[in-house]
Amino acid sequence: MAVIFNQTIQRLTAFDFFAGSGLVTHSLKPFFNVVWANDISRQKAEVYVKNHGSSHFHLEDIRAVCGQDLPYADLSWASFPCQDLSLAGKGEGILANRSGLVWQWLRTMDEMEEMPDILAAENVEGLISANEGENYIILHNDLIKRGYRAGAVRLNAQSWIPQSRPRIFIIAVRREIPLPAHLCSQGPVWLHPDSIVRAASGLKDWVWWNMPAPGGRQCQLSDIIEWDAPVDESEKTNQLLKLLSERHEKLLEERDNIAVTGYKRTRCGKQRLELRFDGIAGCLRTPKGGSSRQILVMKRNGVIHTRLLTARETARLMGAPENYWLPEKYNDAYMAMGDAVAVPAVHFLAEHLLFPLAAQAKVQRAKEREAQNDDTRAVVGI
Ligand SMILES: C[S@@+](CC[C@H](N)C(=O)[O-])C[C@H]1O[C@@H](n2cnc3c(N)ncnc32)[C@H](O)[C@@H]1O
Repeated sequence: MAVIFNQTIQRLTAFDFFAGSGLVTHSLKPFFNVVWANDISRQKAEVYVKNHGSSHFHLEDIRAVCGQDLPYADLSWASFPCQDLSLAGKGEGILANRSGLVWQWLRTMDEMEEMPDILAAENVEGLISANEGENYIILHNDLIKRGYRAGAVRLNAQSWIPQSRPRIFIIAVRREIPLPAHLCSQGPVWLHPDSIVRAASGLKDWVWWNMPAPGGRQCQLSDIIEWDAPVDESEKTNQLLKLLSERHEKLLEERDNIAVTGYKRTRCGKQRLELRFDGIAGCLRTPKGGSSRQILVMKRNGVIHTRLLTARETARLMGAPENYWLPEKYNDAYMAMGDAVAVPAVHFLAEHLLFPLAAQAKVQRAKEREAQNDDTRAVVGI
């Protein structure tokens, strides 16, 4: 068994669908060899290729991908578009045009000669929280129809890095694969908020995935700040500070050294700059307009400055390594990070669930092949 295990795990392979700027590929790399990835965006493709090479990357609309052309993979990952599931969007759901591209991913999997043992999908919380989990339930039932068992977990990047970025991860595994006892539980654990518990109720072949809880976060927002980056003119800073509530103004006044971020929001017809004082940044978004970029307010030795987050700070907030290549244009770099999946969340999932599951599945396949070979040898009498 140990020999089969060692021989097989070295060859675990993965697909990264909707690979964007490649943070999923980066996070999976210590555990899987990513053999195929795609995205439709030229700008993101450049980021992917500069960081991971072009050999396995396909700049292509998923609608044009044919599963028969793909190599075998143990894991297929899809961070499918979130616009129709996000609370900020119109909530058109998982059957709408953009988030509905998840069905193209599954169509490609159907076309493969052998479907991967594990399917993993990632999206925003609306996937499970909107309409009593209706979007998730549709997807779950489709995975079950294909011969998988599945369950969803919620991880928030803030467990590791100073950004609040809660995301839902669905993990499905071929039904024939025995589930190692330590990877599942009998009921909800820390990975399952009420929204997941509600959506899971009564679902066929649901799995309560289990993983050890992460140790506490080691770094604060102030640790990732580029303190010497250029700041706004004082006129702009004063304008921004006028948008603060009295409470936030007071909280800033009380400290001599602090770094906080916030978004501009309109409340009761009035524009506000809403800061958070818990040592982490709000969720990065894609920079479509002025209000979707996060504003940094820094106070050092009693002096307040403001500016947008730098491109490198957005990468740090996603847990990307310091040498991760980013586009020169600010908006392209922000876009590449604002739309990505946080590195430590994927790394954690890969380490504690995807890798052990895929290894188990691989061993299972090797045993099945051995048994088949024994049968064949017995039939032909050798
Ligand atoms: C949530 S982002 C994925 C982010 C990525 N996993 C990362 O870590 O950077 C969704 C991605 O889907 C891509 N996309 C949207 N429509 C697509 C299509 N028709 N075919 C392929 N990719 C598409 C977008 O360009 C975007 O990069």
